[in-house]
Amino acid sequence: MNGKLYIGIDLGTSAVKLLLVDGDGAIKNAVSKEYPLIFPQPGWCEQEPGAWWRACTEGMHELLNGFDARQVAGIGCGGQMHGLVVLDKDDQVIRPTILWNDGRTEKQVEYLNETIGKKKISEYTANIAFAGFTAPKLLWLRENEPENFSRIARIMLPKDYINYRLTGVHCCDYSDASGILLLDVQHKRWSPEMLALCHVREDQLPTLYESYNVVGTVRPQIAAEWGLPEGVKVIAGAGDNAAAAVGTGTVRDGSCNISLGTSGTIFIASDKFGVDPYNALHSFAHANGHYHLMGVVLSAASCNKWLCDEILRTKDYAGEQKDITDDRLGRNPVFFLPYLMGERSPINDVNARGTFIGLSMDTRRADMVQAVLEGVAFAMRDSYEIARALNIPIKSSKLCGGGGKSLLWQKIMANVLNLPIELPVAEEGPGYGGAMLAMVGCGAYASVQECADALVKVRAVVAPDPEIAARYDAQYAKFRKIYPSLKDVFPQIRL
Ligand code: XUL
Repeated sequence: MNGKLYIGIDLGTSAVKLLLVDGDGAIKNAVSKEYPLIFPQPGWCEQEPGAWWRACTEGMHELLNGFDARQVAGIGCGGQMHGLVVLDKDDQVIRPTILWNDGRTEKQVEYLNETIGKKKISEYTANIAFAGFTAPKLLWLRENEPENFSRIARIMLPKDYINYRLTGVHCCDYSDASGILLLDVQHKRWSPEMLALCHVREDQLPTLYESYNVVGTVRPQIAAEWGLPEGVKVIAGAGDNAAAAVGTGTVRDGSCNISLGTSGTIFIASDKFGVDPYNALHSFAHANGHYHLMGVVLSAASCNKWLCDEILRTKDYAGEQKDITDDRLGRNPVFFLPYLMGERSPINDVNARGTFIGLSMDTRRADMVQAVLEGVAFAMRDSYEIARALNIPIKSSKLCGGGGKSLLWQKIMANVLNLPIELPVAEEGPGYGGAMLAMVGCGAYASVQECADALVKVRAVVAPDPEIAARYDAQYAKFRKIYPSLKDVFPQIRL
């Protein structure tokens, strides 16, 4: 289109994925760099911001190798949400980041939701507290590491740390800021009540932008190191789910995107602000300037990864799925609760744990693999049912994320939800969305909608099969009985 190149960064939980995209939306190169997760205690999860930055810089050299880096016009990042990054007055990271799937803040969530009350918290922010959100982590830090808390000069989210290293600007976009639980989502401003409750000052918080707004340019020293021209624009970017929704073209009112990444999310774009009266779904800002509702399954593709890597000790994920034929779908006597890190939507229970149930002497390895894929799909259906109960007419959904590449999982999702699943040509949701937002920020498109209309194409549709979908309906009814009957057991078996 204009000979320019754009870089999309997907700052994920297991790896950073970098994309080099041209002005016509063609992906010219992709590089992925992993970094470790730290599990200091069961149910806790941390990561080092320095590891993200190292992975980005290493990856950037590979990404640009063989291309004319002087053509790069803009960079946009979609990042894992809710992680608490804290810097001191000298810009040093105070402690490792407590991530979105960390469940240590049970007490602080109870304080916000029960002592202050869900009604008030929802009035201030449009959401209630969940363990993974950032505000309960700030309360945890204040109670458990007061010395660290007193040193905080800047609070930011994971992708904002990357933007800060890139530009020196302390910024955040509205979609990601929604998940901090300090933002008045409807009015897109920090909530003074929440700041007071969490003992936070506004000068510690980032300046807020729309996701496609330019926040600054790449620092000259970094530009020189990477071979970029002067003045490469960095846009505010978005939380990974909003960025993925942009990347899959989920920007029109009522459109839906499902992501099967480390987490599983069901994301419904909405032109108007709205709150689920039970607060089971998050009510957040979207990266297109509007809003969205979202349900979050904390462990999705990570359940399959855990089963294959840790238990079955194999990297051959496709091989494990090859015996699971259509006739077996909706007929599995084995069920799996995917709550390996507790669960967010809709049950909001940090004590819930992964569970296999229905095993017998004739259970095959493939039945357990299938149960894991189905368990995640059933957990996603829990959120989908809430959206349906709100009378949101969902006619189809896009699918992205690593788990979405499995043909079998695509079929299971389509039939468990009884919904046509559309597969976009570019499957790299957040990274592609980040690059698209950069294009809008650089003026290549007038709006996110215009950019999505021009670039996002669907390559195939997986339609539900009425017989299989009916069998899954019956299976889902059984699945729904398992968690309530174990709910009280989980806290008792906790070490
Ligand atoms: C969303 C959430 C996760 C992370 C994963 O609320 O917690 O989807 O953003 O990266």
